Amino acid sequence: MRIVHAADYEDMSRKAANLIAAQVVMDPCCVLGLATGSTPIGTYQNLIKAYEAGDLDFSQVSTYNLDEYCGLSHDDPQSYHYFMKENLFDHINIDQANTHVPDGSNPDAEATCAEYDRIVEEAGYPDLQLLGIGNNGHIGFNEPDTCFSKGTHCVDLTESTIEANSRLFDNIEDVPRQAYTMGIHTIMNAYMVLVIANGEKKAQAVHDMCFGPIQPSCPASILQLHPNCVVIADDAALSLCK
Ligand code: PGA
Repeated sequence: MRIVHAADYEDMSRKAANLIAAQVVMDPCCVLGLATGSTPIGTYQNLIKAYEAGDLDFSQVSTYNLDEYCGLSHDDPQSYHYFMKENLFDHINIDQANTHVPDGSNPDAEATCAEYDRIVEEAGYPDLQLLGIGNNGHIGFNEPDTCFSKGTHCVDLTESTIEANSRLFDNIEDVPRQAYTMGIHTIMNAYMVLVIANGEKKAQAVHDMCFGPIQPSCPASILQLHPNCVVIADDAALSLCK
C-alpha cells in the first residue's frame, strides 16, 4: 500500500483526480470503477474541470459503480445512479450507455447481482477502482462481517451505515435497509485501487485498513494484500497512523 498524505479535502481531491486523469490519458478506452458518497465529490469536480479545460476525453471510457440502494430506480434522486449523473456523467463527454450501476429497482437480487458480475467480468475488471471508506471500514457496501465476500450480492446495511447516510435523506426511516454491492473479490480484481479518505471520523478505519490485522471485521484491511493500492488521505484521516 502506498499512503499519500494530503493537506486537506481539496488537496486529496486534486491528487486523486490527477491519478484518474493520468489513467484516462494513458488509456482512453480504460475501465473505471467508481464510488459515491461525500468523499469523491471533489475528485469528480476536478475531473470535470480537466474535461472542460480540454485535457480529458471520456468518450471511450466505461465505468462500473460499486453499489446501489435496493428499491430505488435509476431516476430516483436518492439513487447512486442519479448521484453519478449529477456529480459526473452529465458534465463530461462520457457515453451514458457505457456507464453502469447495479439496478436497484430489480427485486430479483440473484439475477441482478449475477448480471452485474457478468458485465464487470466481461469488461475485464476496472483498470482503476476508486473507493471511499466507511467509518466502520466498509468498502462499497461490504459491511464488517465474519468472512470476505466474493461477487456482487445483496447486503443488509448496518445501523452505523444507515445513520451515517441518513444525512442525505429527509428522515432516517427513508434510508433503504439493503443494497446491491460489488464483492471484495471483484474489487480485488481491479488493476489499481485508489482509496480516498478525509476527516477525523475516518481515522480509525484508515488506521485499521492500513495497519490493522487483515480480517473481515474491517473489510478494507484486505487491501493490504492488493499489489497496487494507493491511499490518499488528509491529515485528520491519517491522525492515528503516526
Ligand atoms: P462518504 O462514504 O464518502 O460519504 O464518507 C464513504 C463510504 O461509505 O464508502
